[in-house]
Amino acid sequence: MFEKYAEIYDKRGHMYHQAMRKWPDARHREFESLMNVARIEQASPVVLDVPSGGGYLASYLPKGAKLVSVDGASKFLESGKHDEAHQVICAEHDNIPMDDESADAILSLAGLHHIPDTVSVFQEWHRLLKKGGVLTIGDAQSGSPTTQFLDGVVNQFNSMGHRGDYLDTSQVKLLEQTGFQVEYSQEVSYPWEFKNCGQMLEFCRTLFCMDLEPSDDELLHAIQQSVGYSETEHECHLHWALFFIRAVK
Ligand SMILES: C[S@@+](CC[C@H](N)C(=O)[O-])C[C@H]1O[C@@H](n2cnc3c(N)ncnc32)[C@H](O)[C@@H]1O
Repeated sequence: MFEKYAEIYDKRGHMYHQAMRKWPDARHREFESLMNVARIEQASPVVLDVPSGGGYLASYLPKGAKLVSVDGASKFLESGKHDEAHQVICAEHDNIPMDDESADAILSLAGLHHIPDTVSVFQEWHRLLKKGGVLTIGDAQSGSPTTQFLDGVVNQFNSMGHRGDYLDTSQVKLLEQTGFQVEYSQEVSYPWEFKNCGQMLEFCRTLFCMDLEPSDDELLHAIQQSVGYSETEHECHLHWALFFIRAVK
């Protein structure tokens, strides 16, 4: 149903993993922000990560959590780093082969913008959650500098392009119409953290598979014109922000 971006990730996913493995802490604040909003408090919770990519959230989960990593891109998913204790399912967001009310929490980070119509996705996630279960979404807010980076800079320097459908208040309304109680919906800013500017550029080139090979100056300029960055003697911060939603069934 939503194949195109899953196919793109099967083609460029190895680069995404490479960046996440080489600089595992670059997006630390992003994962932490997601977990702060999620506030998973149940004992031994079943937690679905949709779309999971390579299972990067594993180390951020509460002790005893059972992680189920779900992604539509089979090659990308399988080449990720998945602990044996965790489950891996290749499936579309709106058709996940699990029983009704089998999850305590669903986490969805930086993936919903690939789904043009989220009605069936929210219905599916509502079906999967237990009563009182929590859905936490983190994705770019429509019109934000983060979307200018993704649909501007990534689109310019990745030969497969980039275009997303980003979060706005209509998604919050839709969640409520689906039966969720939305407890939190706000943009949160934080940096992607690097030791220096060179690392930031390499991370961006690799994670976003910028095969059109922008020069350092071109890429720095494009970053400055979109999300912005700041540099001190010991660190370089790419200014990032996502919109986070906490919705309870
Ligand atoms: C930017 S990555 C985010 C991965 C991970 N959550 C993270 O934060 O790094 C977007 C993910 O969406 C997945 N995806 C894109 N289109 C999809 C679709 N139609 N169905 C299922 N997954 C899809 C991709 O395979 C990829 O894993």
